Amino acid sequence: MGVARVRAWLQTARRIAVLTGAGMSAESGVPTFRDAQTGYWAQYRPEDMATEAGYRAQPGLVWRWYAHRRALLRGVAPNAGHVALAHFAQRHPGRLTLITQNVDGLHQQAGSPDVLCLHGDLLADRWLNPPRPCCHLEDSAAGEPPYCSTCGNLLRPGVVWFGEALPLAVLEAAQQAARACDLMLVVGTAGAVYPAAGLARLAREAGAQVAVLNPAPSELDDAAHAVLRGTAAQCLPALLAPADPQE
Ligand code: OAD
Repeated sequence: MGVARVRAWLQTARRIAVLTGAGMSAESGVPTFRDAQTGYWAQYRPEDMATEAGYRAQPGLVWRWYAHRRALLRGVAPNAGHVALAHFAQRHPGRLTLITQNVDGLHQQAGSPDVLCLHGDLLADRWLNPPRPCCHLEDSAAGEPPYCSTCGNLLRPGVVWFGEALPLAVLEAAQQAARACDLMLVVGTAGAVYPAAGLARLAREAGAQVAVLNPAPSELDDAAHAVLRGTAAQCLPALLAPADPQE
């Protein structure tokens, strides 16, 4: 019933925005953050692992955690949900804007074009302090972050940590897509982190239909016109498959 309703919205919407979170990649084997048993934040404190202060306090510990997450990515692949989104975007050029909080690159691997990555890229590095002319990388001891031996500047993962600004151009493009869409699909996010979660509310206020796809309650259910209780890899192919196989 819910799926048929959202499928009908998808068919008529001129512009579609999709906001994805960690649940999008759960069936690829990437842990979420807030799931009670398996989420990263059940084991670690976000203020230790996902803030600049946490990194400055324990750089080796945090670097090793990101190294572990990077290693995990080498063994995972996009799931049927990522593939369904990519195929839909390829069949309907310019109609779907994909906005993700994920840093795993799986949407891009599946072939989705122009993904708006709000929280950066897990596989990228950047300098912790603004780089100086002296900043060149030295080999570091195993498990320690690479650094500049002249000034001590450290490399850090290229992800957005709590308390940091999102990349402005990406956020503005996502807000524009949220304001302009007729339908927003919110997939696999707890809806607890802003400004990302605010995009669903923005879309609703601007007149879009909002559909949440999540096997469990989320903080964005109240912003939704339809809530589908299913997983990304199960529901997205059913929602996004062409009505006519020739399409
Ligand atoms: P969370 O871990 O907070 O939420 C994951 C959501 O995915 C939950 O609502 C689950 O019910 C849902 N879920 C689990 N399995 C699913 C499946 N197979 N299909 C669909 N949904 C499923 O992750 P996010 O909401 O993405 O930020 O978290 C937002 C941000 O907080 C992350 O980008 C990260 C985190 O701290 C930073 O690291 C800056």
